[in-house]
Amino acid sequence: MPTALEDRILQERARMRGSEAALRQRVEQFSRGPKTKSALMKTLDYESTGHLDFSLFACPPVLESGKGAKLRDVDGNEYIDLHAGFTVNVLGHGNDEVNGAMKVQMDKLNHFAELPMEARAELARLLCERHPGDFAKKIMWAVTGGEAVEIAMKLARWYTGKPIIITHWGDYHGRTAGAMALTAKAFMMAYSFPVPPADTAVARIPFPYCYRCPYGKEYPSCNMFCADQVDRMFESKETWFNNPKAKVTNVAAFLVEPFQSSAGYILAPLPYMKRLQELAEKYDFLFISDEVQSGMGRTGRMWAIEHSGVAPDLITTAKSLCNGLPLAAVTGRKEILDSWGPGAHSSTFTAYPTACAGGVKVMEILERDHVIQSAAEKGRHFLAGLQDLAGRHPSIGEASGLGLYLAIELVKDRTTKEPADDATAWASMELLNEGILCISSGYFFNRLCFAPPLVIEISEIDQALAILDRVLTRMEAKFGIGAGK
Ligand SMILES: Cc1ncc(COP(=O)(O)O)c(C=O)c1O
Repeated sequence: MPTALEDRILQERARMRGSEAALRQRVEQFSRGPKTKSALMKTLDYESTGHLDFSLFACPPVLESGKGAKLRDVDGNEYIDLHAGFTVNVLGHGNDEVNGAMKVQMDKLNHFAELPMEARAELARLLCERHPGDFAKKIMWAVTGGEAVEIAMKLARWYTGKPIIITHWGDYHGRTAGAMALTAKAFMMAYSFPVPPADTAVARIPFPYCYRCPYGKEYPSCNMFCADQVDRMFESKETWFNNPKAKVTNVAAFLVEPFQSSAGYILAPLPYMKRLQELAEKYDFLFISDEVQSGMGRTGRMWAIEHSGVAPDLITTAKSLCNGLPLAAVTGRKEILDSWGPGAHSSTFTAYPTACAGGVKVMEILERDHVIQSAAEKGRHFLAGLQDLAGRHPSIGEASGLGLYLAIELVKDRTTKEPADDATAWASMELLNEGILCISSGYFFNRLCFAPPLVIEISEIDQALAILDRVLTRMEAKFGIGAGK
């Protein structure tokens, strides 16, 4: 006998609700000093339990300052930053050059809503020039990554005159209404439960997560079976994507993360996105790469999609654009960006001068100091270190990475791949206690993700790997992983 609807909804809501009392208990148990404890208690006095912080860590640190890839909390505890504030701090904390450029602009003119400015035009030029592809490009500004995704959705539908946007299960595109409809994750239930997002013209295909292939295949012997399946959805009448007889498509765009970031830094096999782009071309709709987290040099190329040899029609970008202030953009084909008229989209804080001045300096430093090439090299070093750990730690089912975009997947048993979710949560708190700030994620809550500022030193990577080694050893002993093998 199913529980009565009203009881069921109440019980389920109660299970999803953060209890302030439980969070206070965590602070009592885990906080790393008196000032941290006091700041967290004050936070809980006034801030909604809906914030992300207590879902990232059993007890989050209260940060006070940072320099490069080092952070310090209010009690003086130091951390190596393997998170970069979800990849915002691309050039590290307290970057004097970027901050200096922003201060100069701030003193001249900090903000005036929605009017062109010199720094904004210059950053537009720089970003358009870095958008891959041999075609004319333009930009549309936004404030947040979610808003950039909204613009891309609006533009794709406006330009093509078609409704459907196809994305992957497990993708994360933001929490505004349209972007949320493209985002499929368990924790998003808190935004929609029990009524899902209202955009009915969003469709999803499985992401090629090869370690746990949704089709049970092995890469590369699968011959990209997953891409063939997508092709079939267009060639057959099993979906509403396309009418093969009439040769009419109903799709505006693939809007996808080239690699899945919030899902746990999961790499797609590089040829896969090229296959999707070929389908978009064949059926005459757009390919949009959401690089809000993976772009701006993070993977060792300016844009993650460049690894697959794809020049997307549109790219959405945000986080790293100016090393710390809110700024976002959609770049892409001129004819798409110029297909609508003045005022088709706007936002009060769009491309304000201080953020743009910071962005211009970020672009200059990326180029001048060969930051992206060096991120690729440091990434190879980091990945080799993780693979070495995988050779010694039975809990590591997979170690993967491209540039400074890396992850390990923790399992109870390498053969069954049973996710070590509790162990992962424990390890992420232990890492914090040992001075490593990184987050855990994963479809099954069992991936540790590493995304340091691109300016991290090799010695800091080595230090982080040594700490990770110790924490994994203790984790395996505590959770009995690899025992008896
Ligand atoms: C790929 C991707 N798209 C969009 C967003 C949303 O960006 P914002 O939080 O700035 O709205 C994020 C944020 O994590 C993201 O990772």
